[in-house]
Amino acid sequence: MTVQLQTAPAAFDADRAERFAERMAQAMNDGALMIMVSIGHRTGLFDVMAKLPPATSDDIAKAADLIERYVREWLAAMVTGRVVEYEPANRTYRLPPEHAAWLTRAASPNNLAVTTQFVPFLGRAEDMILARFREGGGTSYEDYHRFHEVMAEDSGQTVVAALFDVILPLVPGLEKRLEAGIDVLDAGCGSGRALHSLAERFPRSRFVGYDLSAEAIERASAVAAAKNLGNLRFEARDLTGFNERAAYDLILTFDAVHDQKDPEGLLRGIAGALRSGGVYLMQDIAGSSRLENNLDHPFGTLLYTVSCMHCMPVSLGQGGAGLGAMWGEELAETMLREAGFRSIERRRLEHDPLNVYFIARVW
Ligand SMILES: C[S@@+](CC[C@H](N)C(=O)[O-])C[C@H]1O[C@@H](n2cnc3c(N)ncnc32)[C@H](O)[C@@H]1O
Repeated sequence: MTVQLQTAPAAFDADRAERFAERMAQAMNDGALMIMVSIGHRTGLFDVMAKLPPATSDDIAKAADLIERYVREWLAAMVTGRVVEYEPANRTYRLPPEHAAWLTRAASPNNLAVTTQFVPFLGRAEDMILARFREGGGTSYEDYHRFHEVMAEDSGQTVVAALFDVILPLVPGLEKRLEAGIDVLDAGCGSGRALHSLAERFPRSRFVGYDLSAEAIERASAVAAAKNLGNLRFEARDLTGFNERAAYDLILTFDAVHDQKDPEGLLRGIAGALRSGGVYLMQDIAGSSRLENNLDHPFGTLLYTVSCMHCMPVSLGQGGAGLGAMWGEELAETMLREAGFRSIERRRLEHDPLNVYFIARVW
């Protein structure tokens, strides 16, 4: 790529400009690839291709029950994006098993295609967010297409799949207490998948899920009813001003504090809602509160983008603080202390570079 410079100031570094243009070109390709990977996931094309030998676009389209002309164009993007291999002599396409290992439903919880859905999801919100840049204000969850669906699928991989093997063991003795029977709240539970798993596994414990979104709670309650989970209750409610005194032994929040209207108030409410000996397990986005520390964050751009286009505006839209997803671990810890937590541990989990876990106690 050549950059035409009309009047280059003396200090202008043309090599640097050239490198930047190349970086932008690569970003354009990668951004486009994310949309196509999302389509590959939603159409089931990756799942179909993982089971096929090298196949023509006709065979792939037939196996996926899709229109061949669209499948062929998608395949071209996959081939040039180095996701799928192409054999020109036979016009066959192949998804290598090493790639299928990160792109199929069978590969879950390692299915990265699930997370790529956030890119087209945010693209659809561009006009709405553009208006917020000019006019201020925020958004509401209902303004976004498929938020709770994509979120539930994503946290199904990062949280639910790791719940029993990795997340609960973060709190020593917790599994035994859950087996014996305790009261548990998931605040900002979304579609409630974590609670469905917990309530099924620990029938002696009692579980409650609160979330602002009536749509998410309806979905969560329907699953609980279908699974006949009598020890699990969901309620659509705004957690602003949450104040249930000494009501729970375990409180969970999964990616649900930073986009609240009043995160500080919620943390205070959680501290007050724990019984003596109780524990608060908070999962939130991993990162520093200081931008300069996030330059090498492996998902920095993605997270600030999700924050700018979703997490921050949904909080502002509630008249809230608009902390943003990258509020950072330093601020999170300070806010936990100010809320009354005295013992705070911070843990990272190997399977999940996007999130951090805090184990907090008031005693
Ligand atoms: C990023 S989602 C996480 C959902 C779920 N915990 C998960 O991991 O899939 C954040 C959730 O917080 C909820 N939320 C935001 N503000 C809230 C408020 N003021 N009161 C109750 N819930 C709220 C949203 O409805 C949303 O479901």
